[in-house]
Amino acid sequence: MNAAIRAAVRTADSLNISVYGVWRGFQGLVEQDWRPLTSRNCANILQRGGTILNTARCEAWHLPAVRAKAAQDLRDAGVDALVVIGGDGSFTGAELLNREHGISCAGIPGTIDNDLPGTDRTLGFDTALNTAVQAIDRIRDTASAHERIFLVEVMGRSSGMIAVNTAIACGAEAVLYPESEAQGYDALVTQLKAGWQRGKRSSIVVVAEGDSTGGAYKISERLQSEYNLDLRVVVLGHIQRGGSPTALDRIWGSMWGAEAVKRLAAGETSFYLGSQHGELVTNPFSRIRDPKPNPPKELAALAGILAR
Ligand code: F6P
Repeated sequence: MNAAIRAAVRTADSLNISVYGVWRGFQGLVEQDWRPLTSRNCANILQRGGTILNTARCEAWHLPAVRAKAAQDLRDAGVDALVVIGGDGSFTGAELLNREHGISCAGIPGTIDNDLPGTDRTLGFDTALNTAVQAIDRIRDTASAHERIFLVEVMGRSSGMIAVNTAIACGAEAVLYPESEAQGYDALVTQLKAGWQRGKRSSIVVVAEGDSTGGAYKISERLQSEYNLDLRVVVLGHIQRGGSPTALDRIWGSMWGAEAVKRLAAGETSFYLGSQHGELVTNPFSRIRDPKPNPPKELAALAGILAR
């Protein structure tokens, strides 16, 4: 996200447009918690995780009167347009502000879950994925040396994008994720037994936090009580949400930050950016209500084949 902030500020600067940074998202709009951001304020932030502007969930934004007041505050401060970085909640909030009060809004996809319609990537996903893979590579050493099964739970809320991609990249023996039609506890047992019969003495099972089996601890309890296995659970948790962003996240953050400002300066009023097949694209905010993208079926099938 810092790459996007830096690019937006510096692109605006190059066009002689002043920028305010709004702290804590919509909460900062409600509280008028904004300050000028200059190109110099954005030095040395490209390699930092998180966001220099902080973030917050803002329940008050659901109230029309609160949005009306914020729009008036923005107009009073001479603000013409907003760049909003976030996921579906942030884009819905931006769409409302634009539709109800005519404030121009551009959205930049920012969530580790990579579950937004209209884009095949979101800022943070690649970094979270690489973090999960590096962690599991380390776990693999113990799994292998002690001949154990590890259940590793990854984030993603209701999406299996992180889980399926992690499974491929760390060579997991199985992956459980919410959108899967084939998986589930019984299928996992079948897979682990088949692996054992083929001579596998250790396994990594990647479990998406939103999987219907109820998470890694629940599966572990069941496996332990039914099969008396020597297994361990690791919940990677917020480790996946921090740390220095990957090059790809920095590059897309930079491209989207710059593009958002250029399009707003050219008079576009309501859109969010995305990437489709490697190309930068724009979407109307209404696209956010389309069905969420599922992890590619081929990738999930490949994880099964490669687990042999
Ligand atoms: O949506 C991003 C995400 O990291 C999810 O993957 C996860 O379920 C959630 O946010 C965690 O949110 P919090 O930090 O509020 O617990």
